[in-house]
Amino acid sequence: MYALGIETSCDETAAAVVYKGSTIVSNVVASSLSLHKEYGGVIPEIASRMQLEAIIPVVSGALRNAKKHIRDIGLISVTSGPGLLGSLIVGLSFAKALSASQAIPLLGINHVYSHIFASFLDQKGKVPRFPFVALIVSGGHTNLFYVKGFDRIELLGGTLDDAAGEAFDKVAKILGLGYPGGPAIELLAREGNPRSIPFNCSRTKAPLDFSFSGIKTAVLYFVRTRKSIARAAHRGLLRDIAASFQETVFRVLIEKSMAACRMKNVKTLVVGGGVASNNRLRKMSEILLKQSGIRVFFPGRSLSLDNAAMVAGLGYHLYTRGLRSDLYLNVGQD
Ligand code: KG4
Ligand code: ZN
Repeated sequence: MYALGIETSCDETAAAVVYKGSTIVSNVVASSLSLHKEYGGVIPEIASRMQLEAIIPVVSGALRNAKKHIRDIGLISVTSGPGLLGSLIVGLSFAKALSASQAIPLLGINHVYSHIFASFLDQKGKVPRFPFVALIVSGGHTNLFYVKGFDRIELLGGTLDDAAGEAFDKVAKILGLGYPGGPAIELLAREGNPRSIPFNCSRTKAPLDFSFSGIKTAVLYFVRTRKSIARAAHRGLLRDIAASFQETVFRVLIEKSMAACRMKNVKTLVVGGGVASNNRLRKMSEILLKQSGIRVFFPGRSLSLDNAAMVAGLGYHLYTRGLRSDLYLNVGQD
């Protein structure tokens, strides 16, 4: 069965066709990111206006690239939350209209859960086995889950303040690197010494929760005490700040993921979300988790970022387990 996925939770308008919940036949992502750059973050009004314009060409493009007609589609799977409300409404309204007019079943999908599912796509048989622990690190979320099945997901912990990607974006802003911050910090950190500045992440009462606002403030004060970014840059410090910040955040993410695996007695970790596209996180996870006998799964780099293939894929597996939505489906934040 071919499932059509539609995803509009943030700045992107995405549509994909996925076969039997695992093979990507087409995957189109249009982003309005360039329009948000000058504001240093995503402006919801701009995002949803662009999504209104993009939704029809993007969905048509996904069908065309897949060489499929809407009649070939057995399920419309759409992100219903969490995300930017105006953006979610564009994707959901379009999906409902398509479902009603073409008599195709509809299923609303949780965006964060779809990031977990990205590791099941195009993996040539090497998919994670249930149960496992999932770490989702994106611009809006940092969560640890215990995953017993596609529809059996238990929250173990989450961030108390900033999400990991949000911390990257804010630190990049402090360092004058522009938006989005993750890729810029990754690039700069490659040349830096990750042990040069002893940054720390705040401790949390619950061991599987996260807190990243403290380290962001620590970077701000560190830069301020050097009087100006220009002076820090002159002394080659920016690279070391980026590398030390990145390494500290990743060490905490990996240590807490390992603690969650120990707690649930599992040997598989699945990582997803925009921050999971970072090569240093991939490398550090592999090295540190191997020592504990934990196997780690990452999606392909582009599938770590927001896309509709993960929405179509997860939708297929939930649909075959009997889940359905109707036209009363609404956008939500959980
Ligand atoms: O999953 P995603 O595409 O959208 C959300 O659901 O939020 O994640 C976007 C986030 C942004 O905060 C961005 O800075 C971060 O992922 N990100 C990265 C990298 N690429 C994107 N963070 C660290 N390193 C990267 N290479
Ligand atoms: Zn996302």
